[in-house]
Amino acid sequence: MRETLLKRARAAMKCAYAPYSRFQVGAAVLLQDGRIFTGCNVENASYGLTICAERNALFAAVAASARKPAVVAVAVVNRRGVPCSPCGACRQVIAEFGPDAVVWYPGAKGIVSRTMRELLVDGFVL
Ligand code: THU
Repeated sequence: MRETLLKRARAAMKCAYAPYSRFQVGAAVLLQDGRIFTGCNVENASYGLTICAERNALFAAVAASARKPAVVAVAVVNRRGVPCSPCGACRQVIAEFGPDAVVWYPGAKGIVSRTMRELLVDGFVL
């Protein structure tokens, strides 16, 4: 499943809109029911409006689910092939739908595998 998800993330990355940072990112989210949703980063001339690939993938999953989706895995890639773990905001959003999800992303020595519990300690819960 890891390779499938990474492949889907790479495909999504090709749609990234990143003219400002030139850092193209793609993400793929696997739900418990087997569905996969993807997303890319979308930047804006007003830089702060940029949204990450991970959140776009997550939100696509939510928008296509009548009930709260259960995220079991997330894969993230970038076109430069440099280490890139999900940002803090994305970790908080992934944790909302996949507190026990596994996340795959490029590290210094290849793809890193981490659980959400490792990536986000004491995340905000309401
Ligand atoms: N970005 C992502 O899409 N995901 C990450 O995990 C890190 C950063 C995007 C946001 C922005 O478009 C670009 O990468 C540079 O920060």
